[in-house]
Amino acid sequence: MRVDPFQLERYFGQYEFSVPYALASSDCDGLALSELLAGADPDTRKLWDSLALGYTETQGHPLLREAIAGLSESCGPEHVLVAAPEELVFLAMNCLVHTGDHVVSTFPGYQSLYSVAESLHAEVSHWEPDEGAGWRFDPERLAELVRPSTRLIVVNFPHNPTGALPSYAEYARVLEIAASHHIAVLSDEMYRLLERDETDRLPAAADLYDRAVSLSGVSKTLGLAGLRIGWLLVRDERLMRRLIEFKDYTTICSSAPSEILAIAGLRARDGILARHRARIAHNLGLLEGFMAKYEALFSWVPLRAGTVCFPRFTHASIGTPELCRLAREQAGVMLVPSTMFDYGERHLRIGVGRENFPEGLLRLSAFLMSRRAE
Ligand SMILES: Cc1ncc(COP(=O)(O)O)c(C=O)c1O
Repeated sequence: MRVDPFQLERYFGQYEFSVPYALASSDCDGLALSELLAGADPDTRKLWDSLALGYTETQGHPLLREAIAGLSESCGPEHVLVAAPEELVFLAMNCLVHTGDHVVSTFPGYQSLYSVAESLHAEVSHWEPDEGAGWRFDPERLAELVRPSTRLIVVNFPHNPTGALPSYAEYARVLEIAASHHIAVLSDEMYRLLERDETDRLPAAADLYDRAVSLSGVSKTLGLAGLRIGWLLVRDERLMRRLIEFKDYTTICSSAPSEILAIAGLRARDGILARHRARIAHNLGLLEGFMAKYEALFSWVPLRAGTVCFPRFTHASIGTPELCRLAREQAGVMLVPSTMFDYGERHLRIGVGRENFPEGLLRLSAFLMSRRAE
């Protein structure tokens, strides 16, 4: 199996830890271990203090699976498989996609959501949003893309990189299209719980459709990316068995300390989420001001959910790869050009989940002003 290099991850690998202002990150700031433990309830603290560092259960710690199932309407701990989120994309694709299958995936997007299917010799069609309609993904366009050979529909809502979120009716229509053709769904919900307006929150796809698999994790919403803990909600027993068997060839089981720390994070999630949502709202307010100030350079659709948005750089002089290079080298600000999403040279991703976003945005603004003066 040969899989294309993951452009976005290689780009982050190159710059994330050396550029002072990561203005394109999709996660919230990593929580300190001391803070997470200080906020742990006594039972979790006991689990942590008495933790043995042996192998763990392949499907995931029962208490972790119980905490995860608590986020779903209809799934119990038996429907949960724990692994690193990116690993779960790989496992799910390998269990759901076969040579010659047709797959439809939201696009642009997180590359593994289509690259892994391609590496498995599936043909992938892109379901693209309409930027002019606020990055709306039209379910009727999805219906047009479905073929007799379509075996999987991959969706990612809240969407990375546009921040798009369908209405409940649109989302239900997506699942109805899948169900009417007996197509499985892989629903990447990594940014769920970070809706700007909580009433916009969509149910986990696995709660609405028995052939949908929901993917989520603690990386983005809880600021616990370093734990490498995520989960799939899977109601199809046979598929769950296949996934577990496949995990025996990737990590076998998850990291013991990470599982307990993820339990701590999930049990304390309300407080953590409230803080992250407040920071995102504050940073978005600043970004709104920035976009108004530079309306001659950018057009944008404010994100509806999650942490990222995908403004268009409307100034014709240079493309976003060059703009991002200059911002990085001259202002210490890291942005992601749309080339990393195979989506031309006119857009860039901005992320609003980080504490130092205000300072980074000021740096970016000063950089743009200095360029104007040239
Ligand atoms: C949409 C989406 N899915 C999956 C992942 C993978 O998550 P993790 O990096 O925690 O493995 C990411 C990370 O950026 C993502 O944006």
